[in-house]
Amino acid sequence: MNAAVGAAAGGCGFVIDSRVPRTPGATTSSGEGMSILDIVRPYHDKLTAIRRDIHAHPELAFKEHRTAELVARHLEQLGIETHRGIGGTGVVGVIRGGRSLRAIGLRADMDALSITERNDFAHRSTVAGCMHACGHDGHTTMLLGAAEVLARRRDFDGTVYLIFQPAEEGEAGARVMIEDGLFERFPMEAVFGMHNWPGLPAGSFAVHSGAVMAGTDRFDIRVLGVGAHAAMPHLGVDPVPAAAALVQAAQTIVSRTLDPLDAAVVSITQFHAGEAYNVIPDRAELCGTVRSFSAPVQAGVEAALRRVCEGIASSFGVEVELEFRRSYPPTINTAAEAAVCAEIARAVAGSEHVSTGMRPSMGAEDFAFFLQHKPGAYVWIGNGPGEGGCTLHNPHYDFNDEVIPIGVAYWVELARRLLSEPR
Ligand code: NI
Repeated sequence: MNAAVGAAAGGCGFVIDSRVPRTPGATTSSGEGMSILDIVRPYHDKLTAIRRDIHAHPELAFKEHRTAELVARHLEQLGIETHRGIGGTGVVGVIRGGRSLRAIGLRADMDALSITERNDFAHRSTVAGCMHACGHDGHTTMLLGAAEVLARRRDFDGTVYLIFQPAEEGEAGARVMIEDGLFERFPMEAVFGMHNWPGLPAGSFAVHSGAVMAGTDRFDIRVLGVGAHAAMPHLGVDPVPAAAALVQAAQTIVSRTLDPLDAAVVSITQFHAGEAYNVIPDRAELCGTVRSFSAPVQAGVEAALRRVCEGIASSFGVEVELEFRRSYPPTINTAAEAAVCAEIARAVAGSEHVSTGMRPSMGAEDFAFFLQHKPGAYVWIGNGPGEGGCTLHNPHYDFNDEVIPIGVAYWVELARRLLSEPR
């Protein structure tokens, strides 16, 4: 273990899984008899300091000014062509090697969450109500580490675009970067992402071929009746039983209208009506979310919810308004790129530390927007046991600095592998 990053330093008591090799037996294509981890490890202390600095200074969606400046300066100091202000606070670094016109993109997200940190270690958040509870500080740091190794060595043939993205948490920074011309200004044949995963042994990988994260939608439903005295319901149209029936009917969308082999969730998470004991309110309001793993299922759930609303309206004599908003599409890895990622993960972490059979997550991820435009894959890197509140979006969460070298090694090897073979 690196002396500078002892296990006690983190809020989650991390120790890298002893089964993950500190130095994999297999020498990679790095040459000189050194493994890629041997090459990356000297940067570990420096990168840990960067990661903790970012953790201490979290910034919310599209306000990542300090983080973006830190990223841009780091890239510029390495002599990397750097573009600021792509999609708001996004930064793109360009590293060229050889003469090939081939190009790939590697992406890290930079934003934090509106959570008050409950850790008390030295690098805890200095910003009230804001913290890096999803490890984007670690993602940004690992890509900065890869930038340094790739820029110093340039032992690949093509272009690596380093995409530092704002606003992953709910604000679709990926889509905003695309709308700002990301793929026109930086044409690439494929794009890759990585997210830390608590509960997966530290430094191991999970790679999915196909769906990895769910698509997510949000909806608001207004059930409009006619208010009345609670003792005289026949003089009004009560929206409460209609809304209650709507909640029940919505439970049949997944169970009765979808193919049982298609996964989806419909959750109604808010139900508001009335404010007095003796008044039948004139409206009830419902809110909720839908999760699914394919565009047809997403469309099918929306259509079914509209039918339920129309049916309830005519059954109960109320008006029902549905506002359905598509948020993030499902994140679907393309098979060929996922296969390469799994191969690289095996080379870096050892084949026994790479899972290709894990279930996808019902969480959502805006990397999905990149994959709507380009082939690519988004992988999970183990953050260690998700114990003591060390889970994503928890106030006790902290990124595991011990996995930094493995994540950096993965990025470097992926770029070198993809840009070394003729196509
Ligand atoms: Ni995240």
